[in-house]
Amino acid sequence: MSKAKPDNRSHKTSPDLDTPTDLASAAVDKLSAALNALLADAFALYLKTKNFHWHVSGRHFRDYHLMLDEQSVAIFATTDQLAERVRKIGGTTLRSIGQVSKLQTIHDNDEEYVPPREMLRELMGDNKHMAAAMRKAHKLADDHEDSGTAGLLETFIDETERRTWFLFEASRQEGSNAA
Ligand SMILES: [Fe+2]
Repeated sequence: MSKAKPDNRSHKTSPDLDTPTDLASAAVDKLSAALNALLADAFALYLKTKNFHWHVSGRHFRDYHLMLDEQSVAIFATTDQLAERVRKIGGTTLRSIGQVSKLQTIHDNDEEYVPPREMLRELMGDNKHMAAAMRKAHKLADDHEDSGTAGLLETFIDETERRTWFLFEASRQEGSNAA
């Protein structure tokens, strides 16, 4: 009979949720924390993108309304994968909106009215911020030879940069290079 696994895990995962992994306990802690922060930001950005989808107005209404909906769907699709990645490596993930609000680094925008171009510029900055955070998490995954997390983030970084690009182009003043 094999001996019970030594309890060398520093994170507070219940034994029932401690998915077997060859990753070191410290790596699981760090990677889970990075992924959970990305997950909180994904939920915050998802809701902000929907907020702007619901409240956008003006002559580009249809274009912006549709683009923001597409982007919200893509952002929401990342949430399950981020959370399940944490569980695959033996960490635990978010359980509530309360946890999202504690961990999010994307700022909410509860303004009554936001001009359409400002909406796009704000989301552009948020997506840029998310890509940078994903790159940091990717580096952490590389450092711990966690290619599963690195591979997932590579796709998400590309998708986030696509959103940044679309928001940049759609928000450019016509006839100007102004960013
Ligand atoms: Fe809608």
